[in-house]
Amino acid sequence: MAEKVTADENITYHSFDVLIVGAGGAGMRAAIEAGTDLNVGVVSKLFPTRSHTGAAQGGMAAALANVEEDNWEWHTFDTVKGGDYLVDQDAAEILAKESVQAVIDLENMGLPFNRTPDGKIDQRRFGGHTRDHGKAPVRRSCYAADRTGHMILQTLYQNCVKLGINFFNEFYVLDLVMNDGKPAGVVAYELATGDIHVFQAKSIVFATGGFGKIYKTTSNAHTLTGDGVAIAFRRGIPLEDMEFYQFHPTGLAGLGILLSEAARGEGGILRNASGERFMERYAPTIKDLAPRDMVARAMANEVREGRGGGPNKDYVFLDLTHLEPAVIDAKLPDITEFARTYLGVEPYTEQIPVFPTAHYAMGGIPTNIKAEVLSDNDTVIPGLYAAGECACVSVHGANRLGTNSLLDINVFGKRAGQYSVEYAKTATQVPMPENAADDVIAMIAKVRKAKGKEKIAQLRKELQETMDKNAQVFRTEETLNEALEKVAELRKRYENISIQDQGKRFNTDLLEAIELGFLLDLAEVTVIACRERRESRGAHLREDYTERDDKKFMVHSMVYKQEKIEKNTGTNMRIGWKPVVVTNYQPMERKY
Ligand code: FUM
Repeated sequence: MAEKVTADENITYHSFDVLIVGAGGAGMRAAIEAGTDLNVGVVSKLFPTRSHTGAAQGGMAAALANVEEDNWEWHTFDTVKGGDYLVDQDAAEILAKESVQAVIDLENMGLPFNRTPDGKIDQRRFGGHTRDHGKAPVRRSCYAADRTGHMILQTLYQNCVKLGINFFNEFYVLDLVMNDGKPAGVVAYELATGDIHVFQAKSIVFATGGFGKIYKTTSNAHTLTGDGVAIAFRRGIPLEDMEFYQFHPTGLAGLGILLSEAARGEGGILRNASGERFMERYAPTIKDLAPRDMVARAMANEVREGRGGGPNKDYVFLDLTHLEPAVIDAKLPDITEFARTYLGVEPYTEQIPVFPTAHYAMGGIPTNIKAEVLSDNDTVIPGLYAAGECACVSVHGANRLGTNSLLDINVFGKRAGQYSVEYAKTATQVPMPENAADDVIAMIAKVRKAKGKEKIAQLRKELQETMDKNAQVFRTEETLNEALEKVAELRKRYENISIQDQGKRFNTDLLEAIELGFLLDLAEVTVIACRERRESRGAHLREDYTERDDKKFMVHSMVYKQEKIEKNTGTNMRIGWKPVVVTNYQPMERKY
């Protein structure tokens, strides 16, 4: 059990060998691997089964070859090509090679995968996953109807409970405590009581998920504000490849709620207002199953050029009407119910209005293949690990393939668990400074005492609107500068906020104010990285630099926080670049 060291009126101190921050798929997979030999704790903003892992509906990639020929080398190639050659190829090889064991692990833990008639784990098609280096779509995604992410969360949580892992649910981690450049622990705010908790640990794993709420139209829940990524950045850790944000093609139009790519994997077709299967023009070989960046761009282009549907011609259609209702019910039950509930559309007989929705950050906290966090010049920060969407290892490069995220959290979550335990077994605790909680206490006090006129909801709305308008599927220097100016304005106005709720218990008013600070930081990093990458690659389409430029930009971007204003960015952020790891695949033209 965890050792509770001391407690005073407001601050409780805890001590663990391994502390995991975040209880989505990556965090819980790490916890299971960390096991029970050492003291392992998990601190999570959400109740574990509410995590965003649930939004990856359609499956987890693994070259099991259960239903047709496949192998890990084809999977590696697809991942590298899908990521527009910005993928670190050593990491992609690990991802693909370890995928089979990752699925078997989940099966052994009890995950109810769909089955073939002869009892094997069934597999379906997904965008960008192909047979023999792009010849045709391949069935590589292992799935549980369109609830694969939810099933993973439930399975991992049940196994954590079985192991007796210590969970601290609805605890918001607001700071990472560093002592002389080494991690000593974290400081958290307990939602139910408003109390502060200081957790010290020998090794710390960040598995805090993404930050889709920098955008307005997003598949991400209200809580996906990138706290862990922003905290790391504030404590001097650079952020990698932040310009690459994925827009999932099929969000419910006007809402952004996700309709799984599995719908197209099962035969669904995208059509414009005149009923044309437009993907035939953009990706003649694999059509609707092209990678997400290409499909999202094609959809946005159809709308731009006036071929969209609806009163404002601002969406296209997902057509499932040719599928048997029995197939829809068995394989796509949740998403078709979403279409009925939220848009009043009957997918058996009607086409579903869809438009790209902000879904997934390819960039984040830089790590190596042991999930160790990297600082300047790839120096390992001993005892600090990151996995899942908050991390950039980088297996997704400029564009992640669907079903590789559930794989990523399992493969690199497991690795984070293994390596953090190995480290904690011999490490000594970095001393926790006496005033460890001071910065968090001061941050909270500042928000509580503020008497300004600005409202958090209004500032957040304006931030999200400017990101949707200026840094979405299409970008230019002009739109990005407009977004930066707006972020600077919002930062000033953020100094003039106030909150209404002055209570201690369940003070979401206070937390939303703090979360907005994280969103502002991450939006700014994202826009700066977008502006400095003057080429088009993967999910990053610069209309003023339309070509991929391998000579100049086959490198990862790294944004660093500085004390002083940097000349090249005009802010207190500096941009640097680091080489991509290439093993077998030289960049080629990306045709599908
Ligand atoms: O479309 C989906 O089911 C989402 C999967 C993913 O993000 O990997």
